[in-house]
Amino acid sequence: MEAQVQNELETRLTEAVIARLSDDADPRFRRIMQSLVRHVHGFVRDVELTEEEWFEAIKFLTATGQKCDDKRQEFILLSDVLGVSMLVDAVNHRGSGATTETTVLGPFFVHGAKEIENGDDMSAGWEGEPTYVSGRVLSTEGKPLSGALLDLWQSNSEGSYDVQLADTGGKQLRAKLRTDAEGRFRFRTILPTSYPVPTDGPVGLVLNRMGRHPMRPAHLHFMVSAPGYDTVVTHLFVKGDPYLDSDVVFGVKDSLIVDFKRNDSQAEAQKLGLKAPFYSASYDFVLRRADKARQAHAASDVL
Ligand code: BEZ
Ligand code: FE
Repeated sequence: MEAQVQNELETRLTEAVIARLSDDADPRFRRIMQSLVRHVHGFVRDVELTEEEWFEAIKFLTATGQKCDDKRQEFILLSDVLGVSMLVDAVNHRGSGATTETTVLGPFFVHGAKEIENGDDMSAGWEGEPTYVSGRVLSTEGKPLSGALLDLWQSNSEGSYDVQLADTGGKQLRAKLRTDAEGRFRFRTILPTSYPVPTDGPVGLVLNRMGRHPMRPAHLHFMVSAPGYDTVVTHLFVKGDPYLDSDVVFGVKDSLIVDFKRNDSQAEAQKLGLKAPFYSASYDFVLRRADKARQAHAASDVL
């Protein structure tokens, strides 16, 4: 009997919080807050959270915020390792059909990379295995998209991004590249390697407590856009990487795993401006037309 009274009290509390939401609040915001309150209260009841655990959680969230600055985004990392980023991705790209599959943006994207020409080396000065990447950007009808923009970023051969290193002298291993008249792109770089996400913050501690490794399989990042088309944020993963089945951020999709083929021919390497042995990979990105409703929504988000 007492337990039942307790249950009613707990449920009434949830409903009381929801009832305080103003009828004038934006309808979408109301829906999000109602669901959030129900789920958070449900979670507390489900695990019968102790006061110590709740305080621990608040300390953790505080430390996560304190770890963030203009170069480090610990909340994105938290969302990534808990699979929330990939869940948001899945919910927002249902039925994308023939378009290139998307994956996490990650915390290391930086605006304003320098624009390079097709065939240029985006890894200038960095040690690593020479690599050539080429392909096309197409519409879902197979039309080559000339002038499409590829924003590229990757880690160095030790698995660090420029923003994680001191004194890189500006943006490194990042570039913007436009497709040519036939929708083609090509660039030189170094072969990416698998690397750990940052573990020196609160997210690293939680990963450790969960008994999980922090590794991401080797990949190159792409953000591909063209006027009138939906932007695709994705990676190309290196086939054969040992972490493809256990990516710490759950970002791998089979269609994004690409063979980076080793080539020992000095003559072929020379033609591409590389040294043998080198690796080459080819991939066509497919974008779909942005529908008017989504375009209007996106524009109002920017304003
Ligand atoms: C990345 O690939 O850059 C990345 C993605 C999610 C978390 C950490 C890093
Ligand atoms: Fe990455």
